[in-house]
Amino acid sequence: MAQVSLQKITRQFGNVSAVENVTFEVPDRAFWVLVGPSGCGKSTLLRTIAGLETITRGELYIGNKLVNDVPARQRDVAMVFQNYALYPHLSVADNLAFGLKMRRENRSQIASRVREVARSLDIEHLLLRKPKQLSGGQQQRVALGRAIARQPQVFLLDEPLSNLDTQLRDDTRAELKQLHQRVGITTIYVTHDQVEAMTLADRIVVLNNGRVQQIGTPQAIYANPLNMMVAGFLGNPPMNILPATYDDGRAILGKNQSIPLNSTLKHRLQQIQGKKFELGIRPEHITLERSQLEDGDNCLILEVDLLEPLGRETLIKAIAPESNLRLNLLTDAYWQGKKGDRLTVRFDPEKLFIFDSNSGMAL
Ligand SMILES: Nc1ncnc2c1ncn2[C@@H]1O[C@H](COP(=O)(O)OP(=O)(O)OP(=O)(O)O)[C@@H](O)[C@H]1O
Ligand SMILES: [Mg+2]
Repeated sequence: MAQVSLQKITRQFGNVSAVENVTFEVPDRAFWVLVGPSGCGKSTLLRTIAGLETITRGELYIGNKLVNDVPARQRDVAMVFQNYALYPHLSVADNLAFGLKMRRENRSQIASRVREVARSLDIEHLLLRKPKQLSGGQQQRVALGRAIARQPQVFLLDEPLSNLDTQLRDDTRAELKQLHQRVGITTIYVTHDQVEAMTLADRIVVLNNGRVQQIGTPQAIYANPLNMMVAGFLGNPPMNILPATYDDGRAILGKNQSIPLNSTLKHRLQQIQGKKFELGIRPEHITLERSQLEDGDNCLILEVDLLEPLGRETLIKAIAPESNLRLNLLTDAYWQGKKGDRLTVRFDPEKLFIFDSNSGMAL
């Protein structure tokens, strides 16, 4: 087992940087998740660590060894690819055993290891089949099993659950977490799914346009996003981000509504140029007032545009009349309302975020 250290890693294709100046260090036995939108460079970064992409600039260490020039097969890492390339001519059992056979381990040890891994992933009944006789989800579990069977120094997993149905994905996700707790192999896991990132990671690395946006525990990133990209990416439904103007201790929103700001925010906003900023609030921090208050000082008046029942709660997509202010809020599943209804809502003043309109950075 080993730590993985990236020092200013850049990977360019022609003059386009898929990964730009990325630095972080995954400690031995940790579970880190790389997350970000499609095309942000997640797979490229993982393939770089695996040795499948050359490094344009920077240094990569596995354990304490500089591995820039070490070929993939000598890095003792196991990668599960986004498209889970299995060996089509080999049975499931032989796919699982492949890495162990390459290492010339003895037969009975290989057989028992294959059975153990197959049992933990619930694919024991498929051992004699060929990959083309499996569903996408089953193939994906075989690919995962093949990596697990090898017990490498480092696991690199590229969206390993993306082809599973919801139930199986939740089960396999829990399985992976338990497996990691049991064997403690250093793991770097790529996903664009923020729920997976939040539930699995010791630390999350948020990427956008090939660059690191923020690194931290799921809780820290959720509570203190460093910029609007991170704020909008983690959380479902996402944070509302509304254009606002600062005036006399209040945030003016839409045509002519406003909410008060606490002293910390007022202090930070005093320095901004042009008085324009972006106000962030998560849907769960907006409360619906039961009584129909008049245009109360500290409330906003909105209109229901769309209702989305989510089971345990209902998502209300609301708009402010006469302006194009749109925001999402949550209410209980029994809430009775319909399109066009008027709402009075209150923002929790302690849960507001403010961002610079130009740079997107948290203020
Ligand atoms: N071999 C290549 N040649 C040129 N450009 C490439 C190559 N591989 C990747 N790219 C580009 O690099 C960027 C990052 O791609 P990458 O596959 O790492 O994204 P990703 O974050 O894994 O996305 P997804 O979530 O869709 O899998 C993209 O803009 C992609 O088009
Ligand atoms: Mg990818």
